[in-house]
Amino acid sequence: MNLNYKSYWRKSGLKGKWGNIFLERLSKHNPKNVLEIGVFCGVTARNICDFLYKKNNINFSYIGVDLFGSNKAQKKDEIEPTFLKNQKFSNPLKNIYYNYILKENLNSVASVEKLLKKYSKNIKLIAGDTNKKLKEIDLKNIDFTFLDGGHSYQTVISDLSILYENMKGKNKVVLCDDYGEASFIHEVKNAIDDFSNRNNIKVKLIENRFAELIF
Ligand SMILES: C[S@@+](CC[C@H](N)C(=O)[O-])C[C@H]1O[C@@H](n2cnc3c(N)ncnc32)[C@H](O)[C@@H]1O
Repeated sequence: MNLNYKSYWRKSGLKGKWGNIFLERLSKHNPKNVLEIGVFCGVTARNICDFLYKKNNINFSYIGVDLFGSNKAQKKDEIEPTFLKNQKFSNPLKNIYYNYILKENLNSVASVEKLLKKYSKNIKLIAGDTNKKLKEIDLKNIDFTFLDGGHSYQTVISDLSILYENMKGKNKVVLCDDYGEASFIHEVKNAIDDFSNRNNIKVKLIENRFAELIF
């Protein structure tokens, strides 16, 4: 299958070669039901749905959780993309198009729903802080999670612990961003290392960026 991560003329956390490396992980594990924690502008969400549709036709599901502008549960620094503060694009055409013509906030449920319209029957977008929301979501069918939401130590530990409670012993995949030197966030790495040591889980480093855990 030809794996080609598309940017959909939006901002993505997976620029350049990283989108295709992400799709290779999806292709390797071949899931049907995917959870993304940290949706941002929905580009990876759309690529996940494109991939799942090609593989499974309409028999797939995607759940995306993001603050989408709602308040954080605690005053933690989640090390968010600076783009979220004022939606400033380096490309002036994008700035005019999104900020003046459409007046669209790309990190909103409405905007991401629009991008995923083709798959409206297969997707669920949830607004809120995963420190509160993740416990309320039915995770039993999820077989692949992309963990890329809050980047504080406490949030990463909390997200991993909730995922683990629901998935342990079921051969489920959790791919975590910002672990290796290519996109290193200290708190993220510490949280993943502490969590995996505590639960005796192997951390596989992918392309010096992602940490892949199997529960
Ligand atoms: C790095 S971006 C995600 C990038 C996205 N996965 C992609 O590939 O384009 C991180 C996102 O996590 C969200 N976020 C930060 N803290 C969060 C929290 N505690 N709960 C839920 N979402 C959170 C932010 O709003 C932001 O959109």
